[in-house]
Amino acid sequence: MKLKYSNLLKYVEKIFVGYKLSKKHAAISAKYLVDADFSGVNTHGLARVSMYCMRLKKKLIKAKPKIKIKKISSNVFHLDADNSIGMVAADMATDLLIQNTKKNGIVLVGVKNSGHYGMSGLFAEKAAKAGLMVWCYTNAPPFIPPHGTIKPLFGTNPICFACPTHIKGKPFVLDMSTSSTNRGKLQYALKVGKQLEPGMAFDKDGNPTIDPVKALTGGMIAPMATYKGSGLAWMIDIISGVMTGANHAGRVKDPYNDLTGPQNVGHMFIGFKADLFLGKNYNKRIKENISIIKKLPKKQGVENVFYPGENKKNIKDTNMKTGVVVDPKILEELHKTAKDVGLNIKI
Ligand SMILES: NC(=O)c1ccc[n+]([C@@H]2O[C@H](COP(=O)([O-])OP(=O)(O)OC[C@H]3O[C@@H](n4cnc5c(N)ncnc54)[C@H](O)[C@@H]3O)[C@@H](O)[C@H]2O)c1
Repeated sequence: MKLKYSNLLKYVEKIFVGYKLSKKHAAISAKYLVDADFSGVNTHGLARVSMYCMRLKKKLIKAKPKIKIKKISSNVFHLDADNSIGMVAADMATDLLIQNTKKNGIVLVGVKNSGHYGMSGLFAEKAAKAGLMVWCYTNAPPFIPPHGTIKPLFGTNPICFACPTHIKGKPFVLDMSTSSTNRGKLQYALKVGKQLEPGMAFDKDGNPTIDPVKALTGGMIAPMATYKGSGLAWMIDIISGVMTGANHAGRVKDPYNDLTGPQNVGHMFIGFKADLFLGKNYNKRIKENISIIKKLPKKQGVENVFYPGENKKNIKDTNMKTGVVVDPKILEELHKTAKDVGLNIKI
């Protein structure tokens, strides 16, 4: 059965309110998670609701955080998220980035004491739709071994860049983990009882495995493109962890298994006005750039060349009309999460 966007949104919002988030923060968090499922990224959406709720219940995420914004200059802001749910801190940082980049051309927003924020691309898309060229970085709990080691230390630290394309409201959004796969795909495989693709993961002794249990209990994910992916993950740990005052060097806590304290994830958002140098000429040039690439001769079997983000936006547009199928195990988990705080709600 396909479930509608507005119904899922209301359902998840109510669950979060049941776990004491304010209505506003519940609505923001629910929107980013439901949007992830509707964009085809079901690893970073509804499948994570129970984890956030478990951490809210254990007060490892603050339901009513007092997020502080320190203005260092008109271009530089430092947020202390006070252990808020990650989507709320990241959404606030994105709004700050948009408002100030519009005024000042180029802005940096660093965030500490945050949590897992889901899909980077959704924050980047919001900023690109407001006319920004944007970079979003976040660190994550240890899972990738630095090149030459067998110790999982870097997170799957996603790298994300977006810019306006002026093509049918679909910005360019390159949003990718720096690992061969992302942790969410392992969690999802575990939940729905699937095996992993060969070459993605290792067990705790560094042996290849297709078993998500082995990969998730002390195992590791291979970095993307060996030392290059390891280097990018390290760069992101420096910019979002070392620089902001968040945890770094393998100390970001695992949101599922480490209940010894808040995660203290760090994020970094960097924004430029896309038309900073060329004014309206930017619009013409970006369209020209994409059009040249789309018209290149295609490999056999390829019908369309997509720019990053275009495929996910196409999936979302379709899903918004038809609704999405949610795996029965994920639905069951959502119902249980609601019931655990005495909520008797239905989708
Ligand atoms: N918050 C965290 O700690 C965390 C950690 C890791 C990953 N993530 C999120 O997980 C999500 C998935 O990451 P991923 O590495 O699996 O991404 P992915 O492999 O699905 O996509 C990577 C990029 O490639 C583009 N792409 C995919 N197919 C394409 C095609 N045919 N033509 C052109 N471009 C194409 C996508 O639009 C995207 O920009 C991301 O949203 C990321 O932010 C979050």
